[in-house]
Amino acid sequence: MKLEKILNKSLRLCKLQVRYQHNQPVQNVNQARVSMPSCDFVPKPYQGISAEAAKTVRQYNINPALFTFYKNPVFIYKGHMQWLWDTNGKRYLDCFGGIVTISAGHCHPAVVGAAEKQLNDLWHTTNIYLHPTLHQYASELVAKLPGDLKVVYFTNSGSEANDLAMFMARMYTGTFEIIGLRNAYHGASPYLMGLTALGTWRYNVPTGFGIHQTMNPDPYRGVWGGSHCRDSPVQTTRTCDCPADKCLATDLYIDQLQDVLSYSMPKGRAGCFFAESMQGVGGTVQFTKGYLKRAFEMIREKGGLCISDEVQTGFGRTGTHFWGFEGHDVIPDIVTMAKGMGNGFPLAAVVTTPAVAKKMSEALHFNTFGGNPLSCAVGSAVLKVIEEENLQKNCHVIGTYFLTELAKLRDEFEVVGDVRGKGLMIGVEMVTDKESKTPLPAEHFANIWERTKDLGVLLGKGGFFGNVLRIKPPMCITKADVDFTLDVIRQSLVGYEKGIKSN
Ligand SMILES: Cc1ncc(COP(=O)(O)O)c(C=O)c1O
Repeated sequence: MKLEKILNKSLRLCKLQVRYQHNQPVQNVNQARVSMPSCDFVPKPYQGISAEAAKTVRQYNINPALFTFYKNPVFIYKGHMQWLWDTNGKRYLDCFGGIVTISAGHCHPAVVGAAEKQLNDLWHTTNIYLHPTLHQYASELVAKLPGDLKVVYFTNSGSEANDLAMFMARMYTGTFEIIGLRNAYHGASPYLMGLTALGTWRYNVPTGFGIHQTMNPDPYRGVWGGSHCRDSPVQTTRTCDCPADKCLATDLYIDQLQDVLSYSMPKGRAGCFFAESMQGVGGTVQFTKGYLKRAFEMIREKGGLCISDEVQTGFGRTGTHFWGFEGHDVIPDIVTMAKGMGNGFPLAAVVTTPAVAKKMSEALHFNTFGGNPLSCAVGSAVLKVIEEENLQKNCHVIGTYFLTELAKLRDEFEVVGDVRGKGLMIGVEMVTDKESKTPLPAEHFANIWERTKDLGVLLGKGGFFGNVLRIKPPMCITKADVDFTLDVIRQSLVGYEKGIKSN
């Protein structure tokens, strides 16, 4: 009897999948259904190696540290704007953008065109010679940065950029100590493992000498937080007595930073303070209002530098500003960037002031591929697309709609504990119940998350407890895409609740 029930359930799920595959509305769960938006791009059928062959290579020839998402990993071969196709021809709405990396859109024709042109002209010389694209791109990029942030050093990944930023700050200030935030992710190189403050990303090796973490000013899970703490269309369900223009939680988190400076730093002085503008891997965590500004002031009082990691938040994704730090009303001394910068092409950079940069000329420093002609041509094209297609504005308008609609799901479903973020940098935290905020256990979270994939939407997951849906799609998604995603998440939540009740 039980087996029959299970078989019927999986048959129903298969039917759901098949209907979505053909872009038809799904009929069999409660509410009105939204169809997957149409797409006039038709990919050529897949003709490469089989999924089984790929799995075998994966098993025997690829480092097992490389994990995949989902019980049955999706085998993607084609991308176009916000869409991905698997080798069976099933189309997915990509709401994770290759981990917050697709900005302009998968294989955006203008970016592909720029890369093709450059492929025919020059791939590589390294920087011992001048070549046009690096200089053109550097001038376009620094025009996007405020204040004295005018000197660029190109690298190939966010980790390389953050490694270099740490090194620069230590060199410039002559101070070894660094302060970061708990729950931060800045990369996993041996140098950065100590700055990334998520135990899940740390190995038992000596790392992080001189690096200290202060309490994370997280308005939802942190010890302090209230009802208007964050710069988001959606606030937590916590209450507070703060006057409208003041966040008392910020005062308390700033006291914690003062304690780290006083108790752990020689002469109360840090070489630098390192923070994402909004924590990405940590589960789209925003800080209490005014925290970053006051933290920067405190660090600078004693000569320390402030570094903003814009690897996820840069290039307009947060909607209101081109850089996440601008939303905090600060100008850092060093900014690191990657991911959306190259729309999937390996391209990253450290931008700083002339004074800080000058210190780097005391010895040789070199990166073979950093700023190569191809990546710079791609970077230029991406900047142009973001500007010409108003993608920052799209992030603001579509992201605000997305967030406010998700907040309705939070109000409707007990397991949706928090909805947060800004622009198209969104997190949905799953809990067993709103009161206790106990993270939804992994198998329950997977139940919901796997359904969203089966119904045609790829969402990220993250957060310290692995219980946050991360929604960070290509910046070109439309309102119709959002309505479809909302419906898919809703159906997955309804399906999950039904499953719980029938067990
Ligand atoms: C905020 C942040 N900084 C740095 C990195 C490291 O970038 P990469 O993986 O390109 O080395 C990441 C990667 O996810 C990130 O999210």
